[in-house]
Amino acid sequence: MLAIRAFREGDEAALLRVHRSAIRTIAARDYTPEQIDAWAPEDADLAAWAERMRRNQPFVAVLDEGIVGYADVQADGHIDHFFVSGEHPRRRIGTRLMACLHEEAARRGLAELHADVSATAEPFFARHGFVVVRRQRPVRRGVTLHNALMRKRLG
Ligand SMILES: CC(C)(COP(=O)(O)OP(=O)(O)OC[C@H]1O[C@@H](n2cnc3c(N)ncnc32)[C@H](O)[C@@H]1OP(=O)(O)O)[C@@H](O)C(=O)NCCC(=O)NCCS
Repeated sequence: MLAIRAFREGDEAALLRVHRSAIRTIAARDYTPEQIDAWAPEDADLAAWAERMRRNQPFVAVLDEGIVGYADVQADGHIDHFFVSGEHPRRRIGTRLMACLHEEAARRGLAELHADVSATAEPFFARHGFVVVRRQRPVRRGVTLHNALMRKRLG
């Protein structure tokens, strides 16, 4: 059964596996191999990754087999990471994580949620009430990607 819990120190490596799996399996439909390598590099800086996860303090989705998704919300309503493993698509894991972010936003009295959303995740965020503010072309490792700043006003 799916459970959602707070991040714990020691989760970092499993979260990196989910991140890679989501991008390499699901987002790979909407991005070129060069873009995928720039977004989810094989030679990621593991110390920097762990530091980012500890700073973000994501909610973590867990099935019997282990961690299958994670998502965070920051103090200003920014969602930095939102990923579900490519081995568990369309099983409402993202929906459960999104509900959790909304509950957390309500607890903190946030006025809005916003995220830089991949082309792959855009229909999912739209379904959850986010709208595109602007389209963006971020550069990672010298490679231009495409995403959209999406926002949802709360309350
Ligand atoms: C986007 C993502 C988080 C969705 O997670 P998920 O657990 O598969 O989503 P859910 O099962 O809760 O989907 C709920 C609804 O969202 C929509 N949706 C989800 N994934 C979709 C997709 N790839 N294309 C179109 N609609 C999608 C559908 O309406 C879906 O309902 P349905 O399955 O009954 O049609 C996941 O696919 C992912 O991690 N993608 C790749 C990484 C990425 O781009 N992350 C976001 C960076 S901002």
